[in-house]
Amino acid sequence: MEQYSVKRVLFFFILTLYTLHIVTSRSSIRPNKLVSYSIPEKRLLKKALGYNEDTYLNFTELATKYKYPTEVHTVTTEDGYILSVFRILPKCSEPAKSYPVLLMHGLFDTADLWILAGTKIGLGYVLADNCYDVWAANSRGNHYSRRHVTLDPNKDPEYWNFTFDENGNFDVPATIDYILEKTRSLKLFYIGHSQGTTTYFTMGSLRPDYSNKVTLAVQLAPVAWLKNLNNPLAVLAARNYEIIQTTLESAGFSELFARDHLEHFVIEFLCQMAPRLCELAFTLTTGYKQGTIPLSTIPVAIGHLLSGGSLKNLAHFAQLIKYGKFQRYDEGKKDNLRRYGSPTPPPYNVSRISSPIVLVAGQNDGLSQLRDVAKLASKLPNLVENYIVPISYWSHHNHIWGFTAPDLVFSKILKYFNQFKTEY
Ligand SMILES: *[C@@H]1O[C@H](CO)[C@@H](O)[C@H](O)[C@H]1NC(C)=O
Ligand SMILES: *[C@@H]1O[C@H](CO)[C@@H](O)[C@H](O)[C@H]1NC(C)=O
Ligand SMILES: *[C@@H]1O[C@H](CO)[C@@H](O)[C@H](O)[C@H]1NC(C)=O
Repeated sequence: MEQYSVKRVLFFFILTLYTLHIVTSRSSIRPNKLVSYSIPEKRLLKKALGYNEDTYLNFTELATKYKYPTEVHTVTTEDGYILSVFRILPKCSEPAKSYPVLLMHGLFDTADLWILAGTKIGLGYVLADNCYDVWAANSRGNHYSRRHVTLDPNKDPEYWNFTFDENGNFDVPATIDYILEKTRSLKLFYIGHSQGTTTYFTMGSLRPDYSNKVTLAVQLAPVAWLKNLNNPLAVLAARNYEIIQTTLESAGFSELFARDHLEHFVIEFLCQMAPRLCELAFTLTTGYKQGTIPLSTIPVAIGHLLSGGSLKNLAHFAQLIKYGKFQRYDEGKKDNLRRYGSPTPPPYNVSRISSPIVLVAGQNDGLSQLRDVAKLASKLPNLVENYIVPISYWSHHNHIWGFTAPDLVFSKILKYFNQFKTEY
């Protein structure tokens, strides 16, 4: 009881500070930044509130805690974004024979997703245990890749002028080239989750030569066409995205859900205090079935999940839902002409993706409908398998954090990697 009232007082103290901060803030672009206090102080607060420390440890700290050696690498894209890429070194007797694997996270997420569920369910660890050389990328604008050679993400709205189109066109190609050079390899394996799959389809359409650098791509919860999305709230928001986008933009919200923002703090706090409520939020957004991911993973996942991205990116997804097409960002007629040479945005031609691809889809994934996945599958020229996990409740995050993910998904990945390694 007493402990709870201390927490409550601390919580409202922060809320007051934050309100004062907004009122007095003169920042032109991010009025919603949580009153800035240094990392050690923030951690002390979370410790005092009784958080599971895995919620706030960063990638390197987490991996170190679980005894996996890591490295931090920096990649600069051709349009000046500076990205962090984390490497988990292979844990096996012959590391010299390891193959590089590139992992790409989803919307508002980071590389942390691959390890936050612990050593048994963390795919990053499982791959390292199986002697793979793991490279976990971070797309532009997230917590670890919030830098640019000239633009300041805190001051320049131009910094936030990107969507998954730029992730696919610049971030992933730069990261692939970097890894291949560092490991002196000709090819690598790719695993994407959610938007991390969209990124791949975008890259393969815009830069088809990159398919030659990928031995096999495994796409978990694939997202390309969103025509059959049946989440009524998302559909409603998508139909009205222009007005929402304009309103948020003029209020200075070019960046959303960053780790230092109040909304992150509040959601993280609520999830620590009431993990079951948090599960319910997963259910409402993705169709998740309660109890199929360890309850202890849920609040930890939330601490890492909402880690920053652009408003424009969300608008791009809204366009896919609204128009039912998988196409480039609609800048408006005049700007489309200038950017694409046509008044409407061109579609992504996924038939140009020549690398072998395995799709892994869930029967109850609110963000990746089987009918849309089937459409994608029908257009991929080198589809190895469209694997639908044979469990009726399987949803968006079961692939990466579910109790049975190692049996139903990871073993599949390892089997295919093993097969394609020999053909490589
Ligand atoms: C993780 O946190 C530690 C300690 O605060 C810091 O030294 C390190 O730079 C951080 N790593 C990354 C990748 O942010
Ligand atoms: C954003 O970037 C796109 C593509 O590079 C460009 O066409 C557009 O004019 C830019 N918009 C702004 C507001 O800078
Ligand atoms: C899409 O790409 C395929 C394979 O390169 C090509 O045959 C086809 O003509 C392209 N479709 C369009 C509409 O450009």
